[in-house]
Amino acid sequence: MTVRELIQQARIDRFEAEILLADILEVERAWLFAHGEDSVAEPALALFIDHAEARQNGEPLAYVLGYRDFRSLRLGVNCHVLIPRRETEHLVEWAIERIDAGARRVLDLGTGSGAIALACKSERPDAMLTAIDCSAEALACAVGNARSLGVQVEWLKSQWFEQLGGAQWDLVVSNPPYISASDAHLKQGDLPAEPDSALIGGQTGLESIEHIVEHAPEYLVSGGWLLFEHGFDQADAVTACMQYRGFQHISSRRDWSGQPRMTGGQWLH
Ligand SMILES: C[S@@+](CC[C@H](N)C(=O)[O-])C[C@H]1O[C@@H](n2cnc3c(N)ncnc32)[C@H](O)[C@@H]1O
Repeated sequence: MTVRELIQQARIDRFEAEILLADILEVERAWLFAHGEDSVAEPALALFIDHAEARQNGEPLAYVLGYRDFRSLRLGVNCHVLIPRRETEHLVEWAIERIDAGARRVLDLGTGSGAIALACKSERPDAMLTAIDCSAEALACAVGNARSLGVQVEWLKSQWFEQLGGAQWDLVVSNPPYISASDAHLKQGDLPAEPDSALIGGQTGLESIEHIVEHAPEYLVSGGWLLFEHGFDQADAVTACMQYRGFQHISSRRDWSGQPRMTGGQWLH
């Protein structure tokens, strides 16, 4: 079968079919257009059919490929981790601003594939990164990414702050689970295939954020910052929660689509 025929008959989104085939053939997507009449031989043919079928069955493209690009990094992903999102690249930008303003010790809470910690460390090698997750499988994925990228991060398995002892950080950054358990979005797009523990923040969606806001001051130096990613309609609730706990200089930021998706504040006690 030719490249053109294979893409046409894949019964998945054409762009995704091109990405899958280019990945299997280890060529740029542009190559496919110049080689439409080339025939695709085994084992690439069987692998493409297998991947297209997985995609038809609702497996996210990133899981089928086994990676997702995040800022300058190619991160390995699997069904145990959230697929890193573009919104989170903005959170990394904010974290890097704080690192540039003097934050040296940085804690990533709920690291998943390691996206935030690895991006911060690779872009600001002088920062000292610690990253935790409650999922051993997620941590294994993050450690694998750190190894293949040659990036040094301290990894810990912990329920939020539980295993962190008396240590303190200049910056705590987190993209925690923040979707309500009854939110219909959980049945849409890639979300049904992603781990519930990476997505659901209790009935209200805010339970993980509230827990982190409550306990973060014990782990922040005076002058330290806490930055969150959250849902598009949660900025007011997160602001109120941080104000109530005594954080100062609280502000929210918008993502690439104009939604207020991040809130952060400073601990000055
Ligand atoms: C939304 S995902 C974020 C993953 C990654 N930081 C990112 O931005 O792509 C949330 C992560 O928090 C972890 N998590 C959920 N509950 C946790 C808990 N109680 N303690 C520690 N980590 C938790 C999940 O395993 C998941 O990896």
